[in-house]
Amino acid sequence: MTEMVKTSTPDAAGASSAVIRLVDLSKSFGQQPVLQGLSLDIPREKLTTIIGRSGGGKSVLLKHIIGLIRPDRGQVLVEGTDMTRLGQRQLNEIRKKFAMLFQGSALFDSLSVFENVAFPLREKTDLGEEEIRHKVLEMLEQVGLTGMEQKYPSELSGGMRKRAGLARALVLGPEIMLFDEPTTGLDPLLARTIHDLIQETQRRYRFTAVMVSHEIPEIFEISDYVAMLLDGKIAEMAPPAQFVRTQNPVIQEFINGGRGALCPDPASAGSVAAASQEARRP
Ligand SMILES: Nc1ncnc2c1ncn2[C@@H]1O[C@H](COP(=O)(O)OP(=O)(O)O)[C@@H](O)[C@H]1O
Ligand SMILES: [Mg+2]
Repeated sequence: MTEMVKTSTPDAAGASSAVIRLVDLSKSFGQQPVLQGLSLDIPREKLTTIIGRSGGGKSVLLKHIIGLIRPDRGQVLVEGTDMTRLGQRQLNEIRKKFAMLFQGSALFDSLSVFENVAFPLREKTDLGEEEIRHKVLEMLEQVGLTGMEQKYPSELSGGMRKRAGLARALVLGPEIMLFDEPTTGLDPLLARTIHDLIQETQRRYRFTAVMVSHEIPEIFEISDYVAMLLDGKIAEMAPPAQFVRTQNPVIQEFINGGRGALCPDPASAGSVAAASQEARRP
């Protein structure tokens, strides 16, 4: 990792502020190397967004974090516990800290919105009906779906399905939320409302969030940190304002959509974020 990464470490406490530490992670599928000695610290109670080329290994990275894929080499430390060494039972135990929102919202078509959100509570807790109802309605309110309890997923718009998926992911109060391209398939306006909702719920419930997204420059507005996956490693990680000033020409090209370096002069930094702020004005 570059000097910029080191100097941008969230705080002086260093390791203790990282909930998840990926250490020298390597993973190949057959002859194809995907992760190649990747290291990354995910700061506690922040929203960290991972960007990178399609097929570059972003989803594979998330699956390592939640223990769905085991690396060929390296460690996945979650609060200091190495996920790669756990048996199935211990893995299930530590997964209780996590919730994941995949690209599709993965709702149960045969269940109402209410029952979709209630499902994890019925499966994983001993809560009574009244408490379940209270929690489900609170979550639905939080994601802006009040009044939609009795609808079925097929009756919802794409944006509403994402909201319902988010409510279901949040209902058990996860410490860590993983989002894999949560705005895929939404038009830009809806994508923005889902981004805002993710940021809002992250601030409110203070979970640690790791998001994979291709929404550039929008993610610079909502993320606390941005990390770029490049050639199987994290090439850069920094707060957005610092990230857009990267001197790495490949990253500059990536975040400027192939239009070449936006700010070759570091003094003109922050232009991407500024431009995206501009774009948001009505
Ligand atoms: N279970 C798997 N078996 C074989 N190849 C896989 C598997 N999962 C991912 N890959 C390959 O790893 C590469 C990275 O995939 P992925 O993480 O999904 O990329 P993205 O950055 O678009 O999310 C791709 O070439 C993909 O085909
Ligand atoms: Mg992916």
